[in-house]
Amino acid sequence: MRILGVESSCDETAASVVEDGRRLLSNVIASQTELHRETGGVVPEVAARAHLRALVPVVRAALAEASCTWDDLDAIAVTAGPGLPGALVVGLNAARGLAYARGLPLIPVDHIEGHVRANWLLEREPELPALALVVSGGHTELLLVEEDGSFTRLGGTRDDAAGEAFDKVARLLGLGYPGGPPLSALAATATERRLSLPRAWLRGSDDTSFSGLKTAVLQLVQSPNPPPRAEIAWAFEESVVDVLSEKAARAAERESVASVLLAGGVASNRRLRERVLERAPVAVSMPPPIFCTDNGAMIAAAAFAHLDEMVSPQAPLDIHPTVKRRPPARRT
Ligand code: KG4
Ligand code: ZN
Repeated sequence: MRILGVESSCDETAASVVEDGRRLLSNVIASQTELHRETGGVVPEVAARAHLRALVPVVRAALAEASCTWDDLDAIAVTAGPGLPGALVVGLNAARGLAYARGLPLIPVDHIEGHVRANWLLEREPELPALALVVSGGHTELLLVEEDGSFTRLGGTRDDAAGEAFDKVARLLGLGYPGGPPLSALAATATERRLSLPRAWLRGSDDTSFSGLKTAVLQLVQSPNPPPRAEIAWAFEESVVDVLSEKAARAAERESVASVLLAGGVASNRRLRERVLERAPVAVSMPPPIFCTDNGAMIAAAAFAHLDEMVSPQAPLDIHPTVKRRPPARRT
C-alpha cells in the first residue's frame, strides 16, 4: 500500500511516498527557515503563504522522486494538527482537493504521533510497548506507545517546549534561527565546562519546565561579568539534556517498556542522543536528523497505522487527536 504523506503544520512544506508504513520511496522538504530568519521566528501568516506557494511543486516532486503516478497511490495522508491553524489549512485543503480529484481516500494524522512514527521508517521496527520522547519546537511530550499502537500521554512541558527553549536561548546569545543547531555547535567549543544552570526536576511527574532555565540564562547574559557565551551554551544544553534523558529513562523503567523512541527536531541533538543511549534501560530508536524535523514520510508512516480512519475527501473532517491523556487514576 502506497501512501502520499503531506505535512504543513509549521515551517516545512513536505511530501513523501511511503510503502506499507515503512519503506521510503521519496522525501521532499521545502524549508522556510531562510524566510523566518529575518524575523527570528515563524510568523504564522508568512508561513501559511509560503506553504501555499510550495505545496503543489513539493507534492509533484515527491511523486516524481518515487517514480509514482497518481494511479500508484492508495491514499493521501495529511497532518490535521496540532500546528499553526493557517499553515494546517493549506495542507489539509490541498490534500483534500487532490484526494477528491484523484478518487483517493484521505487519512488525517496527528502531528505528534507522526513524529514518533518516524521511528518505523528505520531498518529495525521498534518494539512495543515503548516510551516516546517527542521534543520539537512546539512540543515536549513523554508518551507511552502501547502494544496495540495506541498512544497515551504521560506528561509534557508546563511552559516552553524544548526546541522553543533552544531557540529563545540561542537568540539571547546572538545566534540565528532556528537556534538548536548553532547553540549546540557553540556549546561543543566550551573549554571550562564548570558552569551549572538550574534543572526543574518536577519530581513525581513526567512533566518538564524550561522557562526558569531560560530566565537564568537571561540573568547571566545581563550580569556585569557574564561567562563566555560558549560556557553558557554548554551549561544550557547540559541542563536540558540532563532533565530530558533522566525523565525518559525513569518513565521507561517505571512503565517496563521494551524500547525508547526519540522524535522531533531536538532529537537530532547529539548530546541528547548520547545521553539517552547511556541512560535508557532498553534499546533506543533514534531517527536520523532528516526524519526528526518535520517531514511528510512520518505522516505517511503514521497513516498506515490508522487505515481504519480513512475518510472520503468530501466527508466533514471531525478530527480527534490520537494521543490520549492518561486518566489521573492510573497514576501512582
Ligand atoms: O520538529 P521540528 O522540525 O518542528 C516542530 O514540529 O516544532 O523541530 C524544530 C525545533 C527547533 O526549535 C530547533 O531549534 C530544534 O528543533 N532543533 C534542535 C536541533 N536541531 C533542531 N535543537 C537542539 N539541537 C539540535 N541539533
Ligand atoms: Zn514537528
